[in-house]
Amino acid sequence: MDWLKKKGLEYRDGVLYFANMNTIEIAENFGTPIYIISEEIVRKRYKELKNILDSEYGNNSIHFAMKANSNLSILKILESEGANFDCTSTGEIYACLKVGIPPSKIIYTGNMFTNNDFEFAVKNDILVNLDSISQLKRLAKIYDDLGKEKNTISFRINPEFGAGHHSHTITAGKTIKFGILDNQVLEAYSKAKGVGFKKFGAHIHIGSGIINAGDFEKAIDKYLIIIMKLADTLDIAFEFLDFGGGLGIPYRPEEDPLDLEFYKTIVLKKFKELVKKGNFEGTKFIIEPGRYLSAEASIILTQVNTIKDNGFKLFAGIDAGFNTLIRPTMYGAYHHIITCNKKDKDETLTYDVVGPICESGDIIGKERELSKLEEGDFLAILDTGAYGFTMSSSYNSRPRSAEILIAQGQIFKIRKAETFEDLTANQEIPKHLK
Ligand code: LLP
Repeated sequence: MDWLKKKGLEYRDGVLYFANMNTIEIAENFGTPIYIISEEIVRKRYKELKNILDSEYGNNSIHFAMKANSNLSILKILESEGANFDCTSTGEIYACLKVGIPPSKIIYTGNMFTNNDFEFAVKNDILVNLDSISQLKRLAKIYDDLGKEKNTISFRINPEFGAGHHSHTITAGKTIKFGILDNQVLEAYSKAKGVGFKKFGAHIHIGSGIINAGDFEKAIDKYLIIIMKLADTLDIAFEFLDFGGGLGIPYRPEEDPLDLEFYKTIVLKKFKELVKKGNFEGTKFIIEPGRYLSAEASIILTQVNTIKDNGFKLFAGIDAGFNTLIRPTMYGAYHHIITCNKKDKDETLTYDVVGPICESGDIIGKERELSKLEEGDFLAILDTGAYGFTMSSSYNSRPRSAEILIAQGQIFKIRKAETFEDLTANQEIPKHLK
């Protein structure tokens, strides 16, 4: 089955292997629920995407949107491949700097920036991608107050055509909070020139989980028209144009993957046409995928603790809930679930695979046909490497899971599971309650 193989999964004698490791042994040795990441798959996805870009336009860079997966080892793996980084908060910038990623490799695309955010960025020489004209004055003042030279500035442009797997992940459109609409773009850049910025970039990100490359087309067309207008009217040379992330992955076995060649035609070839037309010779082409690079590189291993037949429905109760993986509950997202053993068992049954959280919305997989399960069996939840651990919580006072990395046939513990002590560590009881 190619679909599983591409994600590093295969059955050997009825047992599921991930990145050439026996999942049952991992579950028994390390406990469940647990996130497992394959270093090889992260590297493969990066190389695959980078080769596509390189084949068309050399002056490009991939900025990993680390909101998808902010584990320090993932940052190091991608940095070693040559990746740059897209950060959405000062906390994310902190993590990059902590592992030695140079500031020049980071773009800070936040939104609703505070002065403290700006101060942190400017002090650390991080390029800021502004989200509102109103923020410009405050940022310029912070540069001045800190005596730092105003070099490059970028704005997030909202091209009004958005796309994504769920309404919460569509990030362009007139009623959406992100970016600057067409009618304010000239004002933004001329004001930026006015306050002393010398170099310019521009950015769009239209949404997340886009599996049909055609969905980018209208937004890209509009973006490039805006950029031409800006370059002509304000005599601006762009250091870079950032086309955002959003590249989807096939979560379902029957889904076709994103057609990277088509994506290249829609996005990169149109950019190249722009380069030919105007003053864009030195302009760098940037994209900032998160999901595409990390989602398929990880699975969650979980154990079935309860099989409940209530007379109407069959439930498989597992130890991973929406505290572990919130995407199914939050977006109705589909994550494929497979058994770690029992591959070839004939009898299958249809289960709602549910977690231990005290809410009826804690359903990881609805009406899934699986080999007949017993309490104690292990399951794998697939494609959890993006917006999996980063969105997990300790709701219901359930400590967050551990993460392990598989690299070259070895297992590395890259994050300890939280403990009960961790859950209460930051709290203080006032005297009168003691
Ligand atoms: N750039 C910006 C400015 C973004 O806001 C995002 C994602 C990305 C890049 C990366 O998008 P990607 O390539 O991963 O689609 N929690 C949701 C996804 C939210 C995405 C937010 N922004 C989910 O689990 O589907």
